[in-house]
Amino acid sequence: MIHVQHAEPAPSSKNARRVAVDWSKRPLRELMRHIVDEHHTRTRERLDELRALVLEVARQQGDTSYELDEIRHWLVDLDDELRPHMAREEIVLFPYIEDLETALRAGRARIVPPFGDVANPVRRMMVEHDHSGAMLRQLREATSAYSAPRGASKAERALYAGLEALEADLLEHMHLETDILFPRAQALEEASASPSTPPRALTECAHAHESRGARKDRRA
Ligand SMILES: [Fe+2]
Ligand SMILES: [Fe+2]
Repeated sequence: MIHVQHAEPAPSSKNARRVAVDWSKRPLRELMRHIVDEHHTRTRERLDELRALVLEVARQQGDTSYELDEIRHWLVDLDDELRPHMAREEIVLFPYIEDLETALRAGRARIVPPFGDVANPVRRMMVEHDHSGAMLRQLREATSAYSAPRGASKAERALYAGLEALEADLLEHMHLETDILFPRAQALEEASASPSTPPRALTECAHAHESRGARKDRRA
């Protein structure tokens, strides 16, 4: 498995000495905090900015073009998909995963969630990631791969650049969840099946995750 190396500012320096973070080895609560504080926050901000830019460009053009109509349509759909999706992760799924990790560290039994096991919400999240991915492809197509038209206004150029940045951020965000967070959470839950699971199960889970990744790499 290929893990994206994410850059984080070093805590001791405001000036950009950045360190790579291998999220396949960090505690899941740190990864989830990173996803919420960085990706979810930025996604909400970008969606607000982009929707305002669409309105601004439409106002400038007087009459909206076919391309702008398409952008507005797919952007609204993506917004409608992403906001409740992120809220479900923050309110339901991530707190459960955090408790799961804490329970294993403490050697106590995990709580039994109302959704049965983690595979159920994960399955739904993956379907929603697929929907979002399809909408991003539509946006890419509607904008000719984010190439602003000749003579585009400042707002129009900002719209195209913002959409491209949204796509890049969402792809990284979904990679962190799909390829790292969700498989590790499922491995943790499997390890916690017995209420008397000792804390060393955490280490075994990490190893299981790594060997699964190594098997995938061999298949790639
Ligand atoms: Fe997310
Ligand atoms: Fe997600």
